[in-house]
Amino acid sequence: MKAIVLTKYGPPEVLQLKEVTKPTPKHNEILIRIYATPINFADTLIRNFKAISPKKFHMPFLFWLIGKMSFGFRKPKITILGSEFAGEVEAVGKAVTRFKIGDQVFGYCGPRMGANAEYLCMRGTGVVAIKPANMSYEEAAAIPYGAIMALNILRKIDLRPSQKVLVNGASGGIGPAVVQLAVNHFGATVTGVCGTSRLEYVRSLGADLVIDYTKEDFTASQKTYDFIIDILGKSPFARCKRSLVPDGRCLYVSFKMKQVFQMLRTSMAGGRKVICVLVNEKSEDLIFIKELIEAGKIKSFIDRCFPLEQTAEAHRYAESGNKKGNVVITVK
Ligand SMILES: NC(=O)c1ccc[n+]([C@@H]2O[C@H](COP(=O)([O-])OP(=O)(O)OC[C@H]3O[C@@H](n4cnc5c(N)ncnc54)[C@H](OP(=O)(O)O)[C@@H]3O)[C@@H](O)[C@H]2O)c1
Repeated sequence: MKAIVLTKYGPPEVLQLKEVTKPTPKHNEILIRIYATPINFADTLIRNFKAISPKKFHMPFLFWLIGKMSFGFRKPKITILGSEFAGEVEAVGKAVTRFKIGDQVFGYCGPRMGANAEYLCMRGTGVVAIKPANMSYEEAAAIPYGAIMALNILRKIDLRPSQKVLVNGASGGIGPAVVQLAVNHFGATVTGVCGTSRLEYVRSLGADLVIDYTKEDFTASQKTYDFIIDILGKSPFARCKRSLVPDGRCLYVSFKMKQVFQMLRTSMAGGRKVICVLVNEKSEDLIFIKELIEAGKIKSFIDRCFPLEQTAEAHRYAESGNKKGNVVITVK
């Protein structure tokens, strides 16, 4: 089969189209013919992982070390990127009961990757679900990572209608799904923080207010929120505290040990608290997300599609700072 192979760590050019062995599903696996696979944060991070020092990494040192051990220190152990996909089931292992040949599916393979190819094997019990009827393959492929993260982040809090949420990092892979779910599913009032060129995009997701982080520090204003959700961990709790209501929560999706200690310390007292979020994705989450999509509560926003052969170009565009929405690779 054709696949985009990560030949070594480095710039987009290290991604090369090659012929590789087509995978064969085991008794508990399904074989999926991939039609679309987006480029997300993990793809560009892993492609460049040699250059990522513990300081540049957004999570604690231990996570960096585990990442280095599983992705490879000097050269990549995982050679086919792509953690999200949509496609059609082409073969089904004997022990699989959830799927049949011809099912249109979408899914998430996480750090195992492998979707930048014509075929992918997934466990029948893995994070795969029937594709929402109201989405194309391209649209559906761009959903799982952001929506699964968003659902799990918002499950950490008891978000009630009309409560105020600020999403710091509302325009990337996770933020748009947090904004849409908070507004459309929980009925919250959402302020989205992002860069200048993506303000309109975040407004179109349903955010009531938008803030440009290059021009305004939200922690410097008098406005307060019930919840601050910081996707990249850019705003220290010492500053966020003054933007939280007295029993408000600051959720860090990216965090270091400092925030873990702040979470332990604040959990023992009343008042404002820190929550460090770790997401463990499950197939039930994706099935629920499919229902939310079909109910019109989550939309997919595609900026550009590139054919598989142009994956390096797609990475370049995804990193250019110009994208508003998802960059998707189509696999014919
Ligand atoms: N805890 C978990 O279980 C878990 C799971 C998966 C991922 N993660 C973490 O999630 C992060 C990736 O999230 P993502 O995929 O959404 O990333 P992304 O696609 O790179 O998006 C980053 C967002 O942050 C914004 N941003 C950049 N600089 C900022 C600043 N100085 N202040 C405020 N916002 C800023 C960007 O805005 P503009 O683009 O508009 O500038 C964009 O909205 C990683 O750090 C990863 O480690 C955590």
